[in-house]
Amino acid sequence: MRRPLVAGNWKMNGTRASVAELTESLRMQDMPTSVEVVVFPCALHVMQVVDGLNGAAIDVGAQDCAADVGFGAFTGEESATQLLDSGCEWVLVGHSERRLIFGESDDVVSKKFVSALECGLTPVLCVGETLEQRQAGKTVEVVARQLAHVLAQAGVQAFGRAVVAYEPVWAIGSGLTASPQQAQEVHAAIRAQLASEDQRIADGIRLLYGGSVKAENAAELFGMADIDGGLIGGASLKANDFGAICRAA
Ligand code: G3P
Repeated sequence: MRRPLVAGNWKMNGTRASVAELTESLRMQDMPTSVEVVVFPCALHVMQVVDGLNGAAIDVGAQDCAADVGFGAFTGEESATQLLDSGCEWVLVGHSERRLIFGESDDVVSKKFVSALECGLTPVLCVGETLEQRQAGKTVEVVARQLAHVLAQAGVQAFGRAVVAYEPVWAIGSGLTASPQQAQEVHAAIRAQLASEDQRIADGIRLLYGGSVKAENAAELFGMADIDGGLIGGASLKANDFGAICRAA
């Protein structure tokens, strides 16, 4: 039985004051103990959120990490080593905004995934197709290629300590949600791809759906056989909405 996981990606949002408010409101939410909950503030706010959530059953992660571990001359980067030291337990890797806006290749994403694991962080590997790719009937092919790259570099056993999030690019922040059937189809393909290398890993891994998840559509999405929770953007910035989504898992 896979424990549902709901993650909130706060992206580049918030000030110290608004983050303090959001953190406090999250503490007040009635979070189901059956669901694992993680929030991903921007790196600047990680330590504040770690302190603010102290004692609450909500973990903290970072939205990205450097491809290299440890320390070094990489201006503007944060390594998984440093994120762990700041109280993170999780990290997103390969979010489509990193891939598309900042040009991260599958190779860089794979290195980040490996670095996160090496340091003891749990990586949430994000995969997903653009609208153009979906319209060309290439969704499963694109997602399989993104996953294959990381599988080749990290090995299937690494996925025993990781999560995969399927986020169709066209559904992110657009108000367009993949239908539960569309999402399930891709989730099933991801699980089958992992199963072709290791059935046990495939059965145990949590696969999240992300892309315009709201309190109103969460339960139906999370009810699909291979959807084990969600990666939430906009709706995670409102504690009540995020709490409702967590309770739907
Ligand atoms: O990582 C979460 C995300 O990209 C989805 O964003 O705003 O569509 O829920 P949103």
